Amino acid sequence: MALPVITIDGPAGAGKSTVAKKVAQELGLTYLDTGAMYRAVTLLALRRGVDVNDDAKMKELVRDIYLDLSGGRIYLNGEDVSEEIRRPEVSESVSLVARLGSVRERMTALQREIASRGGVVLDGRDVGSVVFPEADCKIFLTASVEERARRRYLELQNKGIAISFDEVKQNIVERDKIDSERDIAPLTIPEGAHIVDSTGLTIDEVVQEIVRKCRTD
Ligand code: CDP
Repeated sequence: MALPVITIDGPAGAGKSTVAKKVAQELGLTYLDTGAMYRAVTLLALRRGVDVNDDAKMKELVRDIYLDLSGGRIYLNGEDVSEEIRRPEVSESVSLVARLGSVRERMTALQREIASRGGVVLDGRDVGSVVFPEADCKIFLTASVEERARRRYLELQNKGIAISFDEVKQNIVERDKIDSERDIAPLTIPEGAHIVDSTGLTIDEVVQEIVRKCRTD
């Protein structure tokens, strides 16, 4: 039997990356963070001063981009940007970048190529609906806005990044809105997905629930 593909989609700050990493570990699979790819494209645009609303310029930018996701890190044109892509400036612009057809086309192709042999857990917004609609197990992971904002706020605090709770919450609400309302590959519950609400659950409880669901799929 071919190696499985597991997709985990959901709104900002639902804990997808932490959970997806652990699910992959438990099942002996590789983890692919598709959000990190959109973040890396955004970082490059910000560094080069490219207007993220300029579709033509963004198309040019992604044409020559080289992304390498190995060993749990992300390299942008050879440079490890794993920490920098989590900065609030990137979070502020990433959903604008992710609306663009040229960017999505390139990232989707790359994701399919990386996961072509299976044995992968991917997390994102459209991985179960568009990138791998035939995935073996699909999860839609969510939590209340308050809880998602609280988790992200603590995460940024721990990294020593100065930002208020309200700013974090506002960014999450805004990104959810743009991600859900965009024309191409909007955030949605994929057909056949299991919905998991992580509000009030520990990371391990969420991981176990997902592993259980995927083992019986
Ligand atoms: O970790 P967090 O929930 O903050 O977001 P992320 O997974 O790092 O994704 C950042 C942004 O990339 C999202 O808000 C989406 O705009 C975009 N994204 C997307 O459009 N499609 C994906 N498959 C993954 C991320």
